Amino acid sequence: MKNVLITGGAGFIGSNFVRYLLAAEPEVRLVNLDALTYAGSLENLRGLPDDSRHTFVRGDICDAALVERLLREHEIDAIVHFAAESHVDRSILGPAPFVQTNVVGTFTLLEAARQAWGGKFEGRRFHHVSTDEVFGSLGPDDPPFCETTPYDPRSPYSASKAASDHLVRAYFHTYGLPVTLTNCSNNYGPYQFPEKLIPLMILNALEGKPLPVYGDGRQIRDWLYVEDHCEAIRLVLRRGRVGETYNIGGGNQPYNLDIVRQICALLDEFHPAGASHARLITHVPDRPGHDRRYAMDTRKIQDELGWRPRHNLTSGLRATVEWYLGHPEWVQAIRQQNDYQTWLQKNYSKREDFAP
Ligand code: NAD
Ligand code: TYD
Repeated sequence: MKNVLITGGAGFIGSNFVRYLLAAEPEVRLVNLDALTYAGSLENLRGLPDDSRHTFVRGDICDAALVERLLREHEIDAIVHFAAESHVDRSILGPAPFVQTNVVGTFTLLEAARQAWGGKFEGRRFHHVSTDEVFGSLGPDDPPFCETTPYDPRSPYSASKAASDHLVRAYFHTYGLPVTLTNCSNNYGPYQFPEKLIPLMILNALEGKPLPVYGDGRQIRDWLYVEDHCEAIRLVLRRGRVGETYNIGGGNQPYNLDIVRQICALLDEFHPAGASHARLITHVPDRPGHDRRYAMDTRKIQDELGWRPRHNLTSGLRATVEWYLGHPEWVQAIRQQNDYQTWLQKNYSKREDFAP
């Protein structure tokens, strides 16, 4: 599998994966298909080769003719599918693009692969990148999600990802398409768009803006440093069993409020501002349908493929805060080229929309 189509490779995890795979596999040739929505940016690909090893194509995964042409022209033998609308808050405010990209887009890719590969599936692979959010919300004493936990998505985002997962499995069972899936917990690290919790808090704190914590801040996520996710995806792509799903997670359970406090402490160390940044923590109305707790049982990928996260939350958060502090030009460019300011305004008015 030398010629790999990456979808969504100008987004957060996709761009990290492109860097990771190019470094890990000198022989690989990547075609990076991304629509460059608000969440995607060529800034995330700065410094990467734009040659036969990495060809960027701006386009929509819902464009069946384009996708099929790319698969044939570049003799693609593996697809790693990241492209998605990925932010729960946006899915609450406007679910339509989530159904379009996550459901119709995934269907379009599956169908294009089935057509272009014409039933010759030997040595080919369709890898689908999904989320732990499809499993729903855990109570405080529930065991972590495993690969056989029944789906119970509760936001338009997670419902659209669940639908796409089902389509991917249906193409395996019905047509024999050689698929693998990974369901991963919350990622953080370099190049994450600053609408998500960790970069939003870092950048707001640096500007002395409020740090909006939803509800009581005692929701729990299982955080994973993005490079560890990239390593897990590569292992599944290369050595995972066809038709199988692998859960990926960081094995930690902090409250959101603890994460925000840790970010404040790191900024107090790296970027002292007189008083602690923690003074900016502000509780705001909760997200509707807010999942309380996620946790992942990762024994399958550990036992079968020997994967383990290399970063813990302390080292990963430190590296992330340092990265954002060290890349002001990236922050500036992202803010200028995307609708970031519009988003921030919406983000604040949204809190009233969220209120009962
Ligand atoms: P992101 O929002 O940062 O990036 C998504 C990318 O997809 C962007 O570059 C965007 O331009 C592109 N895109 C969107 N619609 C497209 C379309 N119709 N055609 C082509 N490109 C399109 O997302 P992310 O956080 O990097 O997530 C990547 C994948 O990983 C998603 O499938 C997401 O569900 C999954 N995932 C994310 C997390 C997380 O914590 N971020 C955790 C688990 C799984
Ligand atoms: P987020 O990064 O949006 O990821 P997800 O909703 O996919 O888990 O949010 C992570 C957690 O942080 C989630 O419980 C919601 C919470 N959160 C806040 O408290 N304030 C914020 O401003 C944001 C963006 C998220």
